[in-house]
Amino acid sequence: MKQTKTAFFCQSCGYQSTKWLGKCPSCSEWNQFAEEKISPEEKATLAPFGVPPLPIHDIPIEETERIKTGMEEIDRVLGGGIVHGSVILVGGEPGIGKSTLLLQVLQKLAVQGNKVLYVSGEESAKQIRLRGQRVSALSENLLVLTEISIEKITDHLKDVRPAVLVVDSIQTTYSDTLFSAPGSVGQVRDGAQQFVLLAKKTGIPIFLVGHVTKDGAIAGPKILEHMVDTVLYFEGDSGHSYRIIRAIKNRYGPTNEVGVFEMAHEGLKEVTNPSSFFLTERPNETVGSVVVPTMEGTRPILIEIQGLVGTSGFGAPRRTTMGVDHNRVSLLVAVMDKIWKGNIGNHDIFINVTGGIKIGEPAVDLGIVSAIMSSFMNRPINPQTIVLGEVGLTGEIRRVSQIQERVKEAARMGFNRCIMPKVQADNLSSFTKKMTLISINDLKDLLEHLF
Ligand code: TYD
Ligand code: MG
Repeated sequence: MKQTKTAFFCQSCGYQSTKWLGKCPSCSEWNQFAEEKISPEEKATLAPFGVPPLPIHDIPIEETERIKTGMEEIDRVLGGGIVHGSVILVGGEPGIGKSTLLLQVLQKLAVQGNKVLYVSGEESAKQIRLRGQRVSALSENLLVLTEISIEKITDHLKDVRPAVLVVDSIQTTYSDTLFSAPGSVGQVRDGAQQFVLLAKKTGIPIFLVGHVTKDGAIAGPKILEHMVDTVLYFEGDSGHSYRIIRAIKNRYGPTNEVGVFEMAHEGLKEVTNPSSFFLTERPNETVGSVVVPTMEGTRPILIEIQGLVGTSGFGAPRRTTMGVDHNRVSLLVAVMDKIWKGNIGNHDIFINVTGGIKIGEPAVDLGIVSAIMSSFMNRPINPQTIVLGEVGLTGEIRRVSQIQERVKEAARMGFNRCIMPKVQADNLSSFTKKMTLISINDLKDLLEHLF
């Protein structure tokens, strides 16, 4: 075991102490101390020392060659494939399918003839073999190692020289040079740093699996996200089979790109047509249901919003929302009350985005209003109609981003009427053959077109 001097540092102000402290004597913050090496033996460098500063246009551009996984959804999220020497953090809640996905990615690479290594500190080799059997990932090029010591993993790497390495998970690995337990802030950060260094030195791309804490931060310390090249976040709902993988940081490609998967019995399946996936169970001609094209990265996806308005029992009326922001719905109901002088606000209101998908963009405002009005008036919305638009506080309909892609996708899925902001309708005349564009300026004009 290497003897490296370590000390505890306050993560908030940098105060150094030889012992762990609960409260920082300098900045009075609680629970901030993490173990760190005092004199790290090596530091990560991108270029060898001795290279003088160069004019920017003289820097040679090497075409970054990417390793294609062959899984289109993953390749797209990564910006076209895996870049050599990059470190990719894959975060997500326990049980969402991180291990399954990475095993499948490695299998895809292995059948192309690449030797790949899956290091697990979470499960036994037997468990991994059973999962491999389930998702048909049993290539002889797919090597499995159960190990948690970073030094030992590095040693194996020298012998194996894999094309891609997966470390599942960064929280279970530990370095001999620190005394703190695996999973502690110091260990996680030091481990990630060592893997980053390793990737840059050897050119082997490394996937690090990171668990997510309750408040959604990957691996607790946000600092992990700064150290790696790419951060992928695996989202989904345990009650639903769909999974979305989202790039929230990518030094080698666009962020906000998403890949959509379905968790099946034989592992994750790519969903190449998410719109039809999210609309499969849509009832026809029912009250309180409307289809809205939402954007996930550069991809339009059609989703269904359902609204239910019920008579309120007693006390304050209830607002329950799944998939959209609760406060946004309250705001929209207030606007609706003002415009239609009804008493919608006195009712219980429930909003649900089917499939368990979560939407954060205001472009679905008009969809929420439509679903509520349909249920309130007990009239089904025209099933060929989609609605798009942000609703302002005075009831004005505001523009939405990337409207062309959204309308195109809706046309592709067979919808032929689109209620949309007036300001944007003129630029879209090229679609009018397939799509009747109904432009409105104000919320009060909505009802005459909706049903
Ligand atoms: P897993 O990849 O172990 O999740 P993570 O590594 O993110 O913790 O996935 C575990 C869940 O996925 C488990 O609840 C069972 C389910 N699953 C399937 O539905 N089908 C499959 O083929 C596999 C392997 C897992
Ligand atoms: Mg796992």
